[in-house]
Amino acid sequence: MAYEFITVHTEADKVGVITLNRPKQLNALNGPLMVELGQALKAFDANEAIGCMIITGSEKAFAAGADIGAMATYSFADVYKNDYITRDWETIRSIRKPVIAAVSGFALGGGCELAMMCDFIIAADNAKFGQPEIKLGIIPGAGGTQRLPRAVGKSKAMDLALTGRMMDANEAEKAGLVSRIVPLDKLMEETLGAALMICGYSQLATMAAKESVNRAFESGLADGVMFERRLFHALFATADQKEGMDAFVNKRPAAFKNA
Ligand code: CAA
Repeated sequence: MAYEFITVHTEADKVGVITLNRPKQLNALNGPLMVELGQALKAFDANEAIGCMIITGSEKAFAAGADIGAMATYSFADVYKNDYITRDWETIRSIRKPVIAAVSGFALGGGCELAMMCDFIIAADNAKFGQPEIKLGIIPGAGGTQRLPRAVGKSKAMDLALTGRMMDANEAEKAGLVSRIVPLDKLMEETLGAALMICGYSQLATMAAKESVNRAFESGLADGVMFERRLFHALFATADQKEGMDAFVNKRPAAFKNA
């Protein structure tokens, strides 16, 4: 499929890589780009051979936010009627296989929110995160006021949302927003390494792990633990659980069949 605002390729026939590709606009996220991103994610999710996806941008920008030029003249009626920042932006929430954000450069506004919608973030040492919408007379609209406090706590989320300042990769890692920082020139190598490691496990188990961790953000502790327990029990019905444990007991590598 030919895309205009993203590029798509696979690595080792197992990892689906989506690169945001509006370099002149620092990958500002306009409607057509978000439609393409949703299509590419859904196609990879439906592809049996793919075990993990990566979303990345350019060295200078993962994405500098929603496209300000496009939305500058929208009225309340426009955004409310069309449910702006909803349909295509939320596609990523329905993706069941793991999605890693490989972030270099600016991840601001909707760009930071897109990274936070991924399952985890690996950041290059030049990454900068922020929710600068306040400077435009608005607030974050793609989940920033909800996911950022869950990731970094109330005080830092308030600081970022109210002052509009950026935080660098070190601050983001210390605060728990990103899982690892790597040198810029190692970003894709390291992220691909993580993705291939995930692809080496049972897809049933990686999907269940993702579903269960996400549940931690959407339910109370007792409900979340019960959800996890039932998924944990369910995995004993899979051939991959028999294979993984037999391989351990017999000191041999596991060969998962995703069944
Ligand atoms: N939308 C549209 N165009 C953007 C953009 C955005 N979010 N961010 C950058 N661009 C464009 C610039 O207009 C500029 O275009 P021209 O060359 O045609 O002038 C080009 O990208 C390069 O940008 P700069 O010249 O500004 O580059 P810089 O290195 O000096 O600054 C920056 C980089 C700090 C990221 C700055 O571009 C910036 O502040 N961008 C806006 C960030 C922002 O406010 N994001 C939030 C958007 S609102 C939102 O996302 C709502 C939501 O929650 C969904």
